[in-house]
Amino acid sequence: MQIAVVGSGYVGLVAAVCFAEMGHDVICVDNDESKVAALQGGDTLIHEEHLPELLNRYRNTKVRFMTDLAEATRESEALFIAVGTPQSDTGDADLSYVEAVASEIARSITSYKVIVEKSTVPVYTNEWIRRTMERNGVERGMFDVVSNPEFLREGTAVVDFLHPDRIVVGADSERASTILGAIYEPLTSGEYYKKTDAVAGCCSTASPPPLLNTSTKSAEIIKHASNAFLALKISFINAVSNLCEAADANVEQVARGMGLDSRIGPRFLRPGVGYGGSCFPKDVAAFRSVAEQLGIDFSLLTEVEKINVRQKKRFVSKVRSTLWTLRGKKLAVLGLAFKGGTDDIRDSPAIDLIEMLIAEGCSITAFDPAAMKRAAEKLPAGPNLKYAEDAYAAAENADALLILTDWQEFAHLDLPRLNTALQYPIMIDGRNLYDPDTMAEQGFTYISVGRPAGVAAVSKST
Ligand code: UDX
Repeated sequence: MQIAVVGSGYVGLVAAVCFAEMGHDVICVDNDESKVAALQGGDTLIHEEHLPELLNRYRNTKVRFMTDLAEATRESEALFIAVGTPQSDTGDADLSYVEAVASEIARSITSYKVIVEKSTVPVYTNEWIRRTMERNGVERGMFDVVSNPEFLREGTAVVDFLHPDRIVVGADSERASTILGAIYEPLTSGEYYKKTDAVAGCCSTASPPPLLNTSTKSAEIIKHASNAFLALKISFINAVSNLCEAADANVEQVARGMGLDSRIGPRFLRPGVGYGGSCFPKDVAAFRSVAEQLGIDFSLLTEVEKINVRQKKRFVSKVRSTLWTLRGKKLAVLGLAFKGGTDDIRDSPAIDLIEMLIAEGCSITAFDPAAMKRAAEKLPAGPNLKYAEDAYAAAENADALLILTDWQEFAHLDLPRLNTALQYPIMIDGRNLYDPDTMAEQGFTYISVGRPAGVAAVSKST
């Protein structure tokens, strides 16, 4: 099938190459000429596993990149809108990019199209797209609007797309849901997983992903409700971790005990420095705002946000109480991305924490395996902030080392080497990557989240 994907961000680009991998012909449209040129030349623009291979395999053949939405509209049967829906000042999703795309599609339409919302949008967006089309003179029978939310995570985006837990298709017309069914058929029939070079993941020919047909509005709500629920799970365990600290219990044991209940499940129960990224903070705010506009009191979501903000402040207090005072302290920071496996720093708790610690008078040397370039654009190096070439260089002569992002490589550091590099062997781990007893044996004072501290019997003499 000929598909157009509008927008070449995380969702758009991954969807475009994955649709090609599933056998479709794809036009990926972006109005940023430099991005289009970079993608045509094979630059993925984002750090994402499997993306370079897939882009190389399909670029300029099964995936064509262009700026011309009118041409893409004429050539394609289904148009996936995957443009940004940033947070506005009021917390609402700003839908102006979605509206602009719908208007342009309306101006170029010559035959029946399915317009698919792939971006995360509030309920009723499908109706606004429909009205926009009609206001621009397009007859009702010439198009359908479908909601097909995307649940991929950064860092595992390609695998998540090709091996989804579920595919949600919200369509109010038979014709549109049949087209979407055909687009996803390679996955839902299990055919894709027979390919010898299929990207590996949890789905298989014997166990293909389910496709759930819903109304358009239900699909829109499924996406917001899923992200808000996951954020709630994280805030819940963060609140429990604070309780564990007060009661001298261990949150890892508590989370394990809770997660073994199949009604709760073990995932997204990792406490830390709060959730971040381009989705959870924005989507919780947008969902809260949708509820308000519909006259529904959903103040639970306000609490989820408050706990998330408090978790960062609490971490700064933890650093202060470990080091006594903060002014003039030299800190090593490991991690800038909002989570491991990505170079994305949007709404990263690590960035917020660095800003808070610098405001308290600390000087920081930071390292991240992938996000330093992006971080330096937002927080340029200066007298109080340096970027190091690895974890050990960051630790050199620091008063303490902080772990702020859950990169796998930070869980396997050479501890004796780190101990030697640090001025004082103090680690404050916002991601619980180490076992407190092991750290104590290795001579560290080790503070983490929701667990008793590890305290070295004998600290190194300096
Ligand atoms: C999220 C959703 O998971 C995905 O389905 C949706 O499509 C987009 O938003 P993503 O933003 O890529 O994906 O990251 P995710 O892995 O969900 O993590 C979000 C944040 O929560 C990160 O800051 C992460 O560190 C934090 N987190 C996650 C925790 O603090 N604890 C956990 O147990 C899980």
